[in-house]
Amino acid sequence: MGSISTDCDVPVLLDIRKSAELLNLRSFVISGLTAERKTLPSLLLWDDQGLKNFNEWTMSADYYPRARELEIIDTHKHEMAQDLPEKFAMIELGCGNLYKTASILTALAQKGREVHYHALDVSAEALSNSLNGLKAHLSGHPTIRVSGIIGTYEDCVDWLTNSAALDRLGLSHVNFLWVGNTVANLEQSEASALLGKFRQGCKTVGLTCSFLISADCCSNKDRVINAYNPNHEPARTFMLHPLHHANMLLGHEAFRLQDWDCTLEYDTTENEILFWYSPKVEITLEVGQKHIHLPEATKVLFWRSGKWTPTQVERVASDAGFNAGRLWQDELGEYGK
Ligand SMILES: C[S@@+](CC[C@H](N)C(=O)[O-])C[C@H]1O[C@@H](n2cnc3c(N)ncnc32)[C@H](O)[C@@H]1O
Repeated sequence: MGSISTDCDVPVLLDIRKSAELLNLRSFVISGLTAERKTLPSLLLWDDQGLKNFNEWTMSADYYPRARELEIIDTHKHEMAQDLPEKFAMIELGCGNLYKTASILTALAQKGREVHYHALDVSAEALSNSLNGLKAHLSGHPTIRVSGIIGTYEDCVDWLTNSAALDRLGLSHVNFLWVGNTVANLEQSEASALLGKFRQGCKTVGLTCSFLISADCCSNKDRVINAYNPNHEPARTFMLHPLHHANMLLGHEAFRLQDWDCTLEYDTTENEILFWYSPKVEITLEVGQKHIHLPEATKVLFWRSGKWTPTQVERVASDAGFNAGRLWQDELGEYGK
């Protein structure tokens, strides 16, 4: 664990990576393909190129969540800021391009809040670029200190619990910012378990904590499918990137793109969309020393995006020991209903 950048003109980046899934992604590719229920790790989506693909997709007209979320933040950022203490740490989980963050931090600065903001993501280059932009944006706001943390959510729990970093800054409250409906890239039970770990980690080191979370509760199936359709660009480039990434890790073209379909399935019980790859023909994959035989149409799960109902969101929070607090929605109810 250590700082990889300390030049005072650029934000400090702390490298806390420890989790095996991130450090040894290749072996998770292999174990996921050899398991009975075939999977590829969703972390394959999120290298530097993957984040560029994601940003392009979210700018497309069909991708309603970005515009709706920006609308909610822009309309309610002062109320969000009002609810937070005079001085605290903010840790943004899976921060991505920080576009929404700039708006929230500016509102906090205008209220004179002292915020020690830490952006967490798994992709070092993307994190560094995004932070430089954010720092420039906030240059007139000295009460907001900006830094970055490279690692996974699990690494962050571990760092919080064991490093006493926030204690040294004299902070007693942490707000976790988790936007982009990223919480719903987990199964509901996984999301509750992770929220609970953050709560417990904070408690262990004597910190209080709160979450500012965005969840897309859109129940209009057509709108969702239109936004996430893996057969339409630019979503397609984003969705197929894990196959390129896996080839890179495996050191050869194990996945030939023309042999694979990418499909979306809407699970109306859990209210989530699941993304699968399946071979168009019977296929034998060469991965590591193994040959993995996959019959035509074998389903390989690689990603999910929940469109949870407000009741499901509340259950995720309460199962983690949190009370759902204030709720903000967009005016048309596209994101929220
Ligand atoms: C859906 S994107 C959201 C990005 C950004 N928050 C936004 O609203 O546009 C998910 C983000 O979470 C990051 N991410 C995914 N899995 C992660 C993990 N296990 N630990 C930390 N970050 C993760 C990705 O790199 C990506 O930036």
